[in-house]
Amino acid sequence: MASLFHHFLILSILIIFSSSQCESQFPKSGYITLPTKLDPETHQYYTSIGMGTPRHNMNLVIALDQNALWYDCNSHYNSSSYIPVSCNDSTYCPETSACYNCHGAPHKPGCTDNTCGYNAVNPFVIDTPFFSGDLGQDLLYFPQVKIPRRFHSGCVESDSPHNTLPLLGGLVKGSNGMLGFGRNSQLSLPIQVSSIYNVIPKFAICLPSSEKSIGNVFIGGTPYALNSVPNRVAFSIPAAPDSNEYFINANSIKIDGELVHVSGKGFNGTTKISTMTNFTVLHSSIFKPFVKEFVKHATAMKMKRVRAVEPFGACFDGKSIGKKNGVPDVPRVNLVLDESQGVSYEINGHNSMFAAKKDVMCLAFVDGGKEAKAGIVLGGYQMEDRILEFDLSTSILRFSDSLLLHNNASCSNPSSLNF
Ligand SMILES: *[C@@H]1O[C@H](CO)[C@@H](O)[C@H](O)[C@H]1NC(C)=O
Ligand SMILES: *[C@@H]1O[C@H](CO)[C@@H](O)[C@H](O)[C@H]1NC(C)=O
Ligand SMILES: *[C@@H]1O[C@H](CO)[C@@H](O)[C@H](O)[C@H]1NC(C)=O
Ligand SMILES: *[C@@H]1O[C@H](CO)[C@@H](O)[C@H](O)[C@H]1NC(C)=O
Ligand SMILES: *[C@@H]1O[C@H](CO)[C@@H](O)[C@H](O)[C@H]1NC(C)=O
Repeated sequence: MASLFHHFLILSILIIFSSSQCESQFPKSGYITLPTKLDPETHQYYTSIGMGTPRHNMNLVIALDQNALWYDCNSHYNSSSYIPVSCNDSTYCPETSACYNCHGAPHKPGCTDNTCGYNAVNPFVIDTPFFSGDLGQDLLYFPQVKIPRRFHSGCVESDSPHNTLPLLGGLVKGSNGMLGFGRNSQLSLPIQVSSIYNVIPKFAICLPSSEKSIGNVFIGGTPYALNSVPNRVAFSIPAAPDSNEYFINANSIKIDGELVHVSGKGFNGTTKISTMTNFTVLHSSIFKPFVKEFVKHATAMKMKRVRAVEPFGACFDGKSIGKKNGVPDVPRVNLVLDESQGVSYEINGHNSMFAAKKDVMCLAFVDGGKEAKAGIVLGGYQMEDRILEFDLSTSILRFSDSLLLHNNASCSNPSSLNF
């Protein structure tokens, strides 16, 4: 009898699972897709996930260098499937973490006993971007996949008395936290997905270039033969054991093939890749000669310079800029990665010119000042409608040039990506 009942139970579970749209198996396609949107106010990129029981849908800002998913579990938030990570969990709770108790108050995410602390970082909250919260596990839903194990994430109460500054300050309006892709954290999305499903820790971003279109982030694999993407380039992202950031090293910058001469201590092309930076930031020692060289070439192409719009260094009359292959025809920018192999990150008009006002197109790079840590921070605008695939198992970054140059493909039109 018991075994019959058991069979019945298993059968019902099977039926429930197969009839739900949300499978917990790794998709047969070989990757998990996160549709990704652009917020025109901040130029941040975000995606939607579901968390907990009942399922709470939330928008999370995509952050390559964050160590985990963290979300606002304020006093109105509760979830019956939440399990805190205990302070003595040697796998997930670093010895240096704080340990929190919630004396007597009714339990909820953010208020449990013997709970491992988690420090969230919101880089847009200047000076003190750190917020204290809890490390926990809960159910996680992507659009087509329900993660079969509880997913580890940071739960931070925006209305906790410990967090006096606005937790979500500077983030896309209506977002609830951030989604971290850090390369050296067992809590980051690609690494948790890799360990849950036993797939390669790998992801690709294809950011949209307009708020009207939807791009994609792919986890565990990529949907098209990346090998066939034209002008694809592979370059190493040197491992830095203590850092969750992604770096490539540029040796120089060229504009229409001509070297930008950087004086002083020489070229420091430590290039951080950041989806949290809207426009590429150059150290002052690079920015000044870069703008000068660009303007020289632009003038030769009869581009008419107009008064600059903050925070940009050079702007042009949009009517004086032509189009080539459907993108603004302006001097070509190359971040040279390996001169001898001819490897560079090429930036054409689609990724270098930003329409700051009607008929005003600006060189979409900003001055990071003399104190900037990295020589270059490659920002989101310079990655839109291109594919960047990060393989953490090999420390290789593969990237395409602008998809618009190839049969008018784009990140929002995946079918166009089948070259
Ligand atoms: C770019 O980011 C800065 C800093 O977060 C923000 O102030 C600015 O509004 C953003 N620019 C655009 C065009 O989104
Ligand atoms: C949160 O939900 C749990 C389980 O459903 C319940 O036991 C608890 O009392 C709730 N906490 C609050 C503060 O409502
Ligand atoms: C942590 O400690 C609690 C009680 O102090 C114990 O019940 C639990 O089993 C421990 N967990 C681990 C992972 O050691
Ligand atoms: C590319 O597609 C867009 C929208 O689908 C269209 O407006 C544009 O004219 C096309 N460009 C070329 C060069 O075909
Ligand atoms: C130059 O690069 C090194 C890493 O190679 C970095 O530590 C340093 O802060 C950089 N300095 C500047 C001014 O960019």
